[in-house]
Amino acid sequence: MDLTQAERDMLEGREGPARQRAMKGLVQLGRAYGAPRMVEIGYAHIHAGMALYLEDVELMEELAAIDARMAVPASVNIANADTVNWRATGAPESLARLQRRAAGAHARLGSDCTFTCTPYWAGHWPTWNTHMTSIESTVTIFCNSVLGARSNRDGFFAVYAGMTGRYPLFGYHRDDMRRGTGLFVVEADLAGPSDFSCLGFHVGAAIGDGVPVVTGFARRPSLDELDALGAGIATSGGASMFIVPGATPPFADVEAAFGGRDVPAPTRVGRAAIDAVYARYRDAHDAIDIVHLGCPHASWEEMKHYARLLDGRRVAGGIELWITASRNVRNAAADAGVLARLEAAGAKVISDTCPMSCHFARTVSPDPALGVVPPRLRAVVVDSAKQAKYVRDMIQCPVLLTGAEEAVETACSGRFVPRGAR
Ligand code: F3S
Repeated sequence: MDLTQAERDMLEGREGPARQRAMKGLVQLGRAYGAPRMVEIGYAHIHAGMALYLEDVELMEELAAIDARMAVPASVNIANADTVNWRATGAPESLARLQRRAAGAHARLGSDCTFTCTPYWAGHWPTWNTHMTSIESTVTIFCNSVLGARSNRDGFFAVYAGMTGRYPLFGYHRDDMRRGTGLFVVEADLAGPSDFSCLGFHVGAAIGDGVPVVTGFARRPSLDELDALGAGIATSGGASMFIVPGATPPFADVEAAFGGRDVPAPTRVGRAAIDAVYARYRDAHDAIDIVHLGCPHASWEEMKHYARLLDGRRVAGGIELWITASRNVRNAAADAGVLARLEAAGAKVISDTCPMSCHFARTVSPDPALGVVPPRLRAVVVDSAKQAKYVRDMIQCPVLLTGAEEAVETACSGRFVPRGAR
C-alpha cells in the first residue's frame, strides 16, 4: 500500500504505541482487500466494549491506558445494559456497572458515548462523500444511502480507524461500488416504518450483498421510513447501501443509480411480499411478556408518535411495553414532556441497549461472575423485521411482528393485533 509520511509515522511508532497498533491493523486489513492506499475519514461509529464479556470492556480500557485517542468525531454503538435504568430491564447491577466501566474508557478515548444504533438521531450526521467507518450495519447503510457518506460494514477496525483518522480504500469507499445492481419497483401502499422494514427484509434477501435500487413509492419516504428500509435490507442480506432515486444522494433517477450500465429488468414487489414478512414472524404463543418499539433506536419523531398513540391509554397488566431510544433522544423527550406522557401510559423507555442486545440473548456465554440469567420469555411483539429476526434467533422465544400502531394496541389490550387489523 502507498502510505503518506503521516501514515508511515504512525506505522513506525513515532505517534505512540496506540496509533502504531491501530495503523498496523489497518494496513493488514487494506492488504487483505487489495487497497492501494488509505483515505482520511471524518467520522467513526465504534465498538462499545460489551459488558457481557469482561475482556471486551478490558480491551477498551487497555486502549485508553496506552493513550489511544479518537482522531475524528466518534460515537459508540449499542451496549448490553441500560447504564442508568438497568433495573427496568431486570439486568443485574453487575452488568450495568461493567458497562459503565466501558463508558469511562470511551470518555478517555474522546468518543461520544452514545451507546446507540442510531447515532444520527443523537447528532452524528456525516455529510455527502465523507469517508467514515461503522461497526453497526444499520448505521453503515443509513450513512451510505440516506446521507451519501462512504462506509463499509466494519468490526473492531472501526476503533482503529477512529484512532488514526484513516481507513483503507476498498469497498463502499470506491466510486465503482456505489452503483445499483438490481432494480425493485414497489407496487403497494406502504405506511410507516414497519412496512418499510418488511420491504427492506424482502429486498435484502433478494439482493444479497449487492446495491438495490428501489422505486415506485407513492411519495417520498420519511427519514424514519428510510432508516427502517435500510435496517431491513441489512438484516436479511449483506447489503450496505440502497438507492431510492430522487431521495438518496446523489442519484437523481434510475439511470444515474446504475451509473451508465444497463438498467436490469425490474423485480416487482407487491403487498403480498410485504405481508409474507409479517407472516414469517408470527409464532404460536400462550401469552405476551414484552411489546417492543424502537428498532433501530427511536427518533424524536417516533417518540412523539408513540406518545400520541398512548395518550389516555394504559399498558395492560402483565405486559411490558419497551421503547428503546438513545439517551440523547430520551433526554430530548424528557425535556419536552414526551417521556412523562409515555411513562404515564406505563411504557418503559430504555436506553443504551435493546431486547436483542441486552442480557436476554441465549446464544452468548456471558462472564459467569456477572450472574446473568436470561429470563424465559413467553413471547415478544415487535414492529421491526430486524428485531424479529434476532429475537427468534438469539433470545429464542416466540416472536410476533406487526406495525407500530398495532403493537401499541397489543400492549394496551393484552392480545396480539396483526398488521392491518386495528
Ligand atoms: Fe438497534 Fe437492537 Fe435494532 S441494535 S437496530 S435496536 S436489533
